[in-house]
Amino acid sequence: MLHTRFIGTGHYLPKTVLTNFDLEKIMDTSDEWIRQRTGIHQRHVAAEDEATSDLGLEAARNAISDAGIAPEEIEYVMCATLTPDYFMPATACMIQQKLGAKRAAALDINAACSGFLYGVQLADALIRSGAYKTILLVAAEKLTVRLDWRKRDTAVLFGDGAGAVVLRGEEGEHGVLSTFASADGSAYQMLHIPSGGSREAITPDNINDVERGIMMDGQALYKRAVKAFGEATERALQQTQLTSENIKLFVPHQANKRIIDSATSRLGIPDEKIYLNLDRVANTSAASIPIALDQARKEGRIVDNDIVLMAAFGAGLTWASAMVRW
Ligand code: ACO
Repeated sequence: MLHTRFIGTGHYLPKTVLTNFDLEKIMDTSDEWIRQRTGIHQRHVAAEDEATSDLGLEAARNAISDAGIAPEEIEYVMCATLTPDYFMPATACMIQQKLGAKRAAALDINAACSGFLYGVQLADALIRSGAYKTILLVAAEKLTVRLDWRKRDTAVLFGDGAGAVVLRGEEGEHGVLSTFASADGSAYQMLHIPSGGSREAITPDNINDVERGIMMDGQALYKRAVKAFGEATERALQQTQLTSENIKLFVPHQANKRIIDSATSRLGIPDEKIYLNLDRVANTSAASIPIALDQARKEGRIVDNDIVLMAAFGAGLTWASAMVRW
């Protein structure tokens, strides 16, 4: 049977690290508050001249080298991001060109923090249909350009980074076993960036008044996130007829440790089966899961034949999951 296999993973984090103690110096917050409420200790921040595609390119190069393939073998480059280099063209085109993936089509996916798993679902369908064999899925974010450092409720939560995977159709039992994606646009205001798009354009007259940063209703989102994790993971278990005991590692979107804890305790997934890196990298939106996936592999937490469950939720609202036999 043809399955979509993860044949390479990679990630990239910018060099500069901003700790909670660094944030204490520029806003009214504390390391203690941030750790207790979120589990975050630090985040990486991209340099001024590093754009999202530069982060994505490094992650892509690492994934391609891990897969042991040449860029010319890639037939499609997908990039999940909510912080593109430009509104036009797609960031995936920037990565395709810089990689020298000359044969590849290129497309951006904006499903916010669920973008990587939406990408896995699209790539899996394209591969299993026989249309493409080898797809590079990158997820990259320079979220710090969308933060207002005067707003402690959002500024402490996010970081920059990129992850990538090479997906290939192969006969056998290994690969994607299930995918699920859902959305509820009626709750879009819980997490959005109000201006800079066509709804509220930035003009010389309003430039000092408009809200260009991330706006969030933290408490409402928290409740929806726990519910969304529940639905996404249950769907994965139903589709695969597996139980939480079969799962070797759960790699959740890294938004908040308390959200992950309450979702996993309901599901009965013990701590040792949960991969966490949000203490080191904070919330990197779409890039969150592929960064964690690559780190988990490099640490030996995922080996051949392991069942890996991934789940995410984010702006939209969107939520999604994927189950993979490695
Ligand atoms: N430092 C210190 N105090 C703060 C900070 C801060 N950084 N931010 C808020 N506070 C204060 C508030 O002003 C408030 O003070 P008050 O009681 O005097 O009014 C107090 O802390 C409590 O604020 P709450 O908002 O009630 O804190 P809560 O326990 O809900 O935690 C948090 C806030 C961490 C944002 C939580 O609601 C949460 O994690 N929500 C989900 C957010 C999320 O996951 N977002 C991203 C998901 S989607 C995606 O990944 C793009």
